[in-house]
Amino acid sequence: MSDCTNCQRAGVNRRAFLATSSALAITAVLAACGAETEDEDESPTGPRNVNTTVTLANYAALGTVGGIAVISGAGTPIAVVRAAATQYRAFSLICPHAGTTVAISGAGFRCPNHGATFNASGGWTGGERTTSLYEFAVASNTTAGTITISS
Ligand code: FES
Repeated sequence: MSDCTNCQRAGVNRRAFLATSSALAITAVLAACGAETEDEDESPTGPRNVNTTVTLANYAALGTVGGIAVISGAGTPIAVVRAAATQYRAFSLICPHAGTTVAISGAGFRCPNHGATFNASGGWTGGERTTSLYEFAVASNTTAGTITISS
């Protein structure tokens, strides 16, 4: 039994108090770790049900490798990057941090809200801590001169 007269009056012994305190401390630590893990595991999620065909000739910037164009008519902001002579990549311009529309900036992208930056492969390169831009699937039709972007 405890030496503490207050504890004796309350019916709490030292062993029960320590066991309860340890369990609460462990629970608090795990909760904190869980919150951090959830934050770090943010993954870029993109718009669902996107299926749009783009005529490449309508976007002069896509005439050269490294060119980037914001396409219209998809119902969500999307940028197409000409990654190689016959390779195109498409990224959601919805910032994975807080949803602001990201803009083309030099050879990549920059979010005007908190300053996150992304390279032409959609990878996060600096600014507000966030994740990569969501990348859509792209299918090319070289005969038609089009690409189809889908999610
Ligand atoms: S919303 Fe883009 S960096 Fe915060």
